[in-house]
Amino acid sequence: MSQRQDNLITVLDMGSAYTRVLSADVNEGALRYRGHGVVASGGMRKGLIGELAPAIKAVKAANAQAERMARTNIGECVVGVGGPHIRGVNTVSRLELGSRLREIGQEDVRNVVERARPVERPADREILHLLPRQFILDGQPGIFDPTGMVGAVLEVDLHMATCSGSARQSTITCANRAGLEVTEAVLESVAAAEATLSADERELGTCLVNIGAHSADLAVFFEGAVVHTGAVPIGGAHFTNDLAVGLQMPVAQAEELKREFGHAVVTAVPQEAEIEIANPEPQALRLRTIAEILEPRARELFYFVKENLRQSDIADTLRLNDALEALGGGCVLTGGGAMLPGLLDVAESQLRARARTGLPVRLSNMPGELAHPGFATAIGMLLYAHRTRVTRAAENNSLRAKLRAIFAASY
Ligand SMILES: Nc1ncnc2c1ncn2[C@@H]1O[C@H](COP(=O)(O)OP(=O)(O)OP(=O)(O)O)[C@@H](O)[C@H]1O
Ligand SMILES: [Mg+2]
Repeated sequence: MSQRQDNLITVLDMGSAYTRVLSADVNEGALRYRGHGVVASGGMRKGLIGELAPAIKAVKAANAQAERMARTNIGECVVGVGGPHIRGVNTVSRLELGSRLREIGQEDVRNVVERARPVERPADREILHLLPRQFILDGQPGIFDPTGMVGAVLEVDLHMATCSGSARQSTITCANRAGLEVTEAVLESVAAAEATLSADERELGTCLVNIGAHSADLAVFFEGAVVHTGAVPIGGAHFTNDLAVGLQMPVAQAEELKREFGHAVVTAVPQEAEIEIANPEPQALRLRTIAEILEPRARELFYFVKENLRQSDIADTLRLNDALEALGGGCVLTGGGAMLPGLLDVAESQLRARARTGLPVRLSNMPGELAHPGFATAIGMLLYAHRTRVTRAAENNSLRAKLRAIFAASY
């Protein structure tokens, strides 16, 4: 069965800890889970692909698992791009529609957005997304979609998310060499938001923090649109390494200890609580000792998040005194790293906003094991890819209708 006949959408999330493949088909307009694969990533260094061969092997293994489960061949995928190299900036673009007022078509909307693409961009920077925040028609702001309106000057305020060109290309190369054609690249934090944020949160202003193994990727939404994207170079692996160094134990043991007994707030752990560990001889370990190691890292993570927001152009763009004022809807944590107990409290105290864990929406038929924040990116990528397909199909249909009308008129 070919993928196209099958109406399948597949996403590839090559994280620094896990490589995930997830497939769904479109059934009566809604996504239905078909299969997934998860394997430990290979060849990753500090959130980037450092060695191709092991990274490709991981993609092949995850894809084979997904193919077995979905009972089909997977030939193409949407890839996620994330990591410490993500940076975003807000910009404006303007299009004169001519000397007389006229109706705005989809082509004009596309043109004004595309004009924001700088002619010269810094070497090794690639534009991942041009995300309109609002259109302004003849000076009137707050327009969500100007198609069909009449005016003379169309402007757009938009957010430009950029990434390292070589990082994006390495991801595509891995997918290709694993036998997958890449149809689209999606920013992982924006994808994770797609799977977790409510419409109210996007409207009121919310910071999505996707905490992976080597970085925490950010996407801030305000008045329904993305106003900031970025990343800080701290993730779950830093917490684990702190434990391994602090308790002088192998990383694998520290990882297990963190997942089972870790807490990011010392005072939330009972003073007398103890466990017995083999290190290498059996010995007692106070649970507070673990939290004493993890808490400073958690504070540092959210301090960096706060600084990233403050150094961004959020406050200037939204005309606020402090970027944190944009977080009226709070802060949502996704990624495997978000599962550390106590992290929400640290986020709340640093960002002075409510925080919650972002559990991804459930697709129909989806197994319960995927319903955790580590799968938010992959599920969000599916939703994003599905939405862009639907939008493109609608645009093509209206283009076809227009062409038909033109030909009909010329007969
Ligand atoms: N129960 C848990 N408690 C605390 N941390 C956890 C738990 N489960 C997983 N993690 C951490 O989550 C991290 C992996 O998260 P995730 O799967 O989102 O990363 P990734 O997508 O592979 O990496 P990245 O997005 O940075 O490229 C690891 O560092 C791991 O230690
Ligand atoms: Mg990730």
